[in-house]
Amino acid sequence: MGSPAAPVVRIRELARHAGQDARLRGWVYNLRDKGRILFLLVRDGSAIAQGVIARGEVPDAAFEAARQLTQESSVELSGSVRADARAPGGAELIVKDMVVHQVAAPYPISPKEHGVAFLMQHRHLWLRSRKQAALLRVRHEVIQAWRNYLDAQGFYCVDSPIFTPNACEGTSTLFETDYFGEKAYLTQSGQLYAEAAAMALGKVYCFGPTFRAEKSKTRRHLTEFWMLEPEMAFAGLEENLALAEGLLRHTLRQVLEKRRDELADLERDPAVLEKWDQPFPRLRYDEAARQLAQWQKEGRYESQFRDGDDLGAPDETMLGRHFGLPVAVTHWPAAIKAFYMKRDPEDPTKVLGMDIVAPGAGEIVGGSVREDDLALLEQRIRDERLPEEAFQWYLDLRRYGSVPHAGFGIGLERTLSWITGVEHVRECIPFPRTLERIYP
Ligand code: 4AD
Ligand code: MG
Repeated sequence: MGSPAAPVVRIRELARHAGQDARLRGWVYNLRDKGRILFLLVRDGSAIAQGVIARGEVPDAAFEAARQLTQESSVELSGSVRADARAPGGAELIVKDMVVHQVAAPYPISPKEHGVAFLMQHRHLWLRSRKQAALLRVRHEVIQAWRNYLDAQGFYCVDSPIFTPNACEGTSTLFETDYFGEKAYLTQSGQLYAEAAAMALGKVYCFGPTFRAEKSKTRRHLTEFWMLEPEMAFAGLEENLALAEGLLRHTLRQVLEKRRDELADLERDPAVLEKWDQPFPRLRYDEAARQLAQWQKEGRYESQFRDGDDLGAPDETMLGRHFGLPVAVTHWPAAIKAFYMKRDPEDPTKVLGMDIVAPGAGEIVGGSVREDDLALLEQRIRDERLPEEAFQWYLDLRRYGSVPHAGFGIGLERTLSWITGVEHVRECIPFPRTLERIYP
């Protein structure tokens, strides 16, 4: 190989090595054969770069081997890095030698258009394409941003279990498993355990996969998705709203700072994200309901929504369009929210719940102040016909030093869909699980 001492460089870092020798390892994205000169696009997972291979500048055998390269063939290129403002990433590699790991078999995903069903069936390969790889890198960045933000404020990460004896978010979407002869469920949310951890450590979050046996085939529903759930002792609705807004705005800023190239790959205008980095409008459920009824009356949109209902996709879309910003909807009807939400002391038909509805993505955050009164919580559990024995440990949190506390859950895939503008959450997770899909 040209210069054996040349360092292996990741393509994202290539421009910083301008004027030096370097080696690139990756896969062939595209090859243009101009006779005496070959332009090889190579991807290594961090980005895509061009290698320029000129006859006479590389050993003849390497030149001939390069001409035979097929899409996704695996190679190692060595050469010198040349700064070029027009090149993607600002540099290209003038190749001096090449090693071929494998000439790939004819690749099923060609640059031509494929249907989503075909691409999903080849999800294990589809991940390599420019846009999908960019999405995965933004996903990584969002997770980093979440952890940075919470860690910097003194939150501790406490993991919650995946096998659980009881429901958190209603019994209709539970995945049941046989746990050594007993029923257990895949967790719908780590919240109840995060509450226990908040009483131990003050400010905590859990982050992990959660499961919902959703029968809905919408672009916003997965049966397995990742959720971040912060929980704070000694906090109310105001602190909860501030934390959620702060977290989202921090996430926008970090993505803007670190993932400009990916936003470009995704054809996402960064100005959209910049605009969202401002205080989010807040409205109570009653105001939202009035507004939606008004818009329906004016024929501005079609919806089944009636006062007292949960918001549906068209309603969320309307709110997003009207405000052009994420909107926090608070003070929800108790009847449509979970058993653990605290009643509004000024109106017991409402709970101190909050959802954040984001333009294009719908609800991305759901949270609340938690009921901290033992008797009221016991009553709610009975009213909802939940198994009381399974909740005794949870009720202990209200027996031993109960305090006002609050938290929320934020879905990673919906957040990613919101930030990147990618419509369907199934592209926002490496291997989606939906009503219709468990392969690959
Ligand atoms: O509103 P949800 O159901 O709230 C909870 O689970 C609370 N226990 C969280 C808490 O307070 N700690 O879900 C929270 C978020 C939603 O706003 C959405 O972003 C995401 O989780 N989510 C889903 N994402 C993809 N597919 C689904 N089927 C989802 N269901 C909820
Ligand atoms: Mg919700």
